[in-house]
Amino acid sequence: MTNNKKLLAWVDEWASLCQPDKVYWCDGSEEENQRLLDEMVASGAATKLNEEKQPGSYAFNSDPSDVARVENRTYICTEKEEDAGPTNNWMAPAEMKAILREKFKGCMKGRTMYVIPFSMGPLGSDIAKIGIEITDSAYVVVNMRIMTRMGQKVLDILGDGDFIPCVHSVGAPLKPGQKDAKWPCAPIEEKYISHFPETQEIWSYGSGYGGNALLGKKCLALRIASYVAKQEGWLAEHMLIMGITNPKGEKKYIAAAFPSACGKTNLAMLIPTIPGWKVETVGDDIAWMKFGADGRLYAINPEAGFFGVAPMTSMETNPNAMLSTKANTIFTNVGVTPDGDIWWEGIGTECPAGTINWKNQPHNPDAGEPVAHPNARFTAPANQCPAIDPEWENPAGVPISAFLFGGRRPSTVPLVYQAKNWNHGVFMGSIVGSEVTAAAIGLKAGVRRDPFAMLPFCGYHMGDYFGHWVNIGKIAPDPAKLPKIFNVNWFRKDENGKWLWPGYGDNMRVLEWIFNACDGTVEPVETPIGFVPNKKDINLSGIESVAENMDELLSVNKEKWLDECALIEEHYAKFGAHLPNELKEEFEILKASLV
Ligand code: GTP
Ligand code: SPV
Ligand code: MN
Repeated sequence: MTNNKKLLAWVDEWASLCQPDKVYWCDGSEEENQRLLDEMVASGAATKLNEEKQPGSYAFNSDPSDVARVENRTYICTEKEEDAGPTNNWMAPAEMKAILREKFKGCMKGRTMYVIPFSMGPLGSDIAKIGIEITDSAYVVVNMRIMTRMGQKVLDILGDGDFIPCVHSVGAPLKPGQKDAKWPCAPIEEKYISHFPETQEIWSYGSGYGGNALLGKKCLALRIASYVAKQEGWLAEHMLIMGITNPKGEKKYIAAAFPSACGKTNLAMLIPTIPGWKVETVGDDIAWMKFGADGRLYAINPEAGFFGVAPMTSMETNPNAMLSTKANTIFTNVGVTPDGDIWWEGIGTECPAGTINWKNQPHNPDAGEPVAHPNARFTAPANQCPAIDPEWENPAGVPISAFLFGGRRPSTVPLVYQAKNWNHGVFMGSIVGSEVTAAAIGLKAGVRRDPFAMLPFCGYHMGDYFGHWVNIGKIAPDPAKLPKIFNVNWFRKDENGKWLWPGYGDNMRVLEWIFNACDGTVEPVETPIGFVPNKKDINLSGIESVAENMDELLSVNKEKWLDECALIEEHYAKFGAHLPNELKEEFEILKASLV
């Protein structure tokens, strides 16, 4: 319970607008969690999985229209349109609020309004931010309990302090006696995922899925936090954080930004295929970073769980993710086998006959439809990860030695290359491109620019965001201690569409080179785009057959890069006067070195 006057008044105000049948304050207890899960099993919204195979775990199927983030329904509502920039949808705050007040009016009829106090970041840490989400979805409550620190303990720390108000409704009021849908939500064109960065508010209407509904994650920890970070001189990024220990016992932490469904969870939990190396996980999706007293950049993971892509996750590709989900996990849009276990494409076993697919139908192997939705997800507590880093909850964070950028690029971009300096690294981040994935609804297939993997998550003008990164290089207490910057690409293909690089645990071979490059113990090769490895410095022992692909994997093809420059030109043109001169200069240097 709380005596926080502002909070109590805010909850009352929204309860009168949304008109729920009742208001319930979440305490975050085990008992409460079980009760909500039991209620959802009873109503048919959830399936309890086999207690022997998946203890404490549940499966949900979403509505087929509500399977991922909706970028075209996601808004940054700043007073001036220009401040949202060319890559965000914009509406004036007053206009958006007027539309949404109408939508929220009576939208929780027949439902319970849950009040979820949550902390992004370790409880009570200076870096942590407290949000309160009100929602009419019990599914959101049980997911937020895994993804954040949640419940009464947050109210105790909040006291009468300030919080970030987050309003969420699935947008499906019930008439008296009306039977609820298994996954209530509103049609796409009625969904609004709205952010008010200038007043630090989030109003989300109409979707129950992932980043649209678990408002601590993308909405608060990235869109709102990126805006605040710019004002305050720190970084809120779509990055995994991992610890790497070499055979001598030396440890470095790195942070990596790859677009959605491009391998952050997999890299963060990697099990090295070369002996003597160890990888530990701090986070798999979001990093908040500030300079420490020693002048280094320190990162925390504001989350407490993993909301990971299920398809292709297996004991072969990512054992640590599989083991993280062994109990107390929520699965969304996966298949459920006749004996109450989970199944998805690439899990590494044959699909048992009679498996129920994500659309709640018996799987028909001849129909050519997948069992799991390509954006099916698991929600698992981070502390269940066998490779969780001992420092993962340290409120001071972990010191970052390197940043990695990357995306899915079947051609052009080499396996790995290093930036020549900070501004060149910022340039590399600003031109990240990737083939689009299933993590968002309604995107055109092909390569799109996703700078810093933040295109869908930047809460302000992307050109100013580039400027903020340039500025971090200027305000660094000791520029020599800034992280080194690299670009990686696990996704190069040959002319038959086959991967040229084995990926997953073998990515350790690239991390080894990066680790050594940070120490300056390898001699790289200079190219127009940056430094690539000497072939001999990539350890291929145990995967000798990959040697024949290495020339291709490390090649920098001038023709292809000139084509790339034409795409960068188009991309950069969007930012107008907001594009930092430092990046224009880097682009000019690249073009000049290619001709
Ligand atoms: P979000 O949670 O959406 O931000 O995604 P993420 O970046 O954490 O992506 P994730 O690690 O879940 O990977 C998404 C997909 O990429 C999965 O289907 C993986 O199997 C595949 N993948 C990850 N790493 C590799 C790799 O090294 N090589 C190949 N070929 N595929 C990979
Ligand atoms: C992403 O799309 O980058 C995710 C999943 O991490 S969601 O939380 O749905 O945005
Ligand atoms: Mn993500």
